[in-house]
Amino acid sequence: MKGAIFYSGQYGSTAQYANWISEATGLPVFDIRHSGPDPSEFDFVVLGSSVIIYKLTIRKWAEKHLSGLLNRPVLLHTVSGAPPGPKVDGWVRGCLPESLVAHMEHFAFRGRLDLKTVGWFTRMVLKVGAMANKDPEASNDEFNGFDYMDKSAIDPLVARIERLKELLPGAA
Ligand SMILES: Cc1cc2nc3c(=O)[nH]c(=O)nc-3n(C[C@H](O)[C@H](O)[C@H](O)COP(=O)(O)O)c2cc1C
Repeated sequence: MKGAIFYSGQYGSTAQYANWISEATGLPVFDIRHSGPDPSEFDFVVLGSSVIIYKLTIRKWAEKHLSGLLNRPVLLHTVSGAPPGPKVDGWVRGCLPESLVAHMEHFAFRGRLDLKTVGWFTRMVLKVGAMANKDPEASNDEFNGFDYMDKSAIDPLVARIERLKELLPGAA
């Protein structure tokens, strides 16, 4: 049954990365907000998750499907304002079950925040967060928005998916 991409995002950047990965690999892509197949129907699973207030939005879905996920290879990509590094890795560890973190591979991508597309309350939360943030670059991003979308960032993940297709019988 090969692989599939399941993603969770709110403002479109995680969906954009998931669609780019789908176009590059031919894997079907599912938004977890809509009903779709069970991940256990696939030989391997690619998860995509945005990060909102230090939390992975896919965390509840991942917990619900944990046993199925642990029985097959899992590749996770996160989409955040923060760059790849210890901060994002810490949020992943803090949000997902330890068994899943140990089992999967993580790829961190940077997304987009267009303040015109978020509601007034979220804008206010971001402004307050910006004032409290001690990291000047992150504070500026929260205050003004940003666009770090980068299609080439998916290349290492696409290469990993192609390798999995070769390794898993029937997954090509
Ligand atoms: C309310 C809000 C909170 C956010 N919190 C974080 C955060 O804690 N860390 C971070 O790196 N990025 C944060 N971001 C940035 C998002 O991760 C980024 O905009 C991402 O591209 C959103 O994905 P989406 O477009 O799929 O919803 C936040 C964005 C919003 C709107």
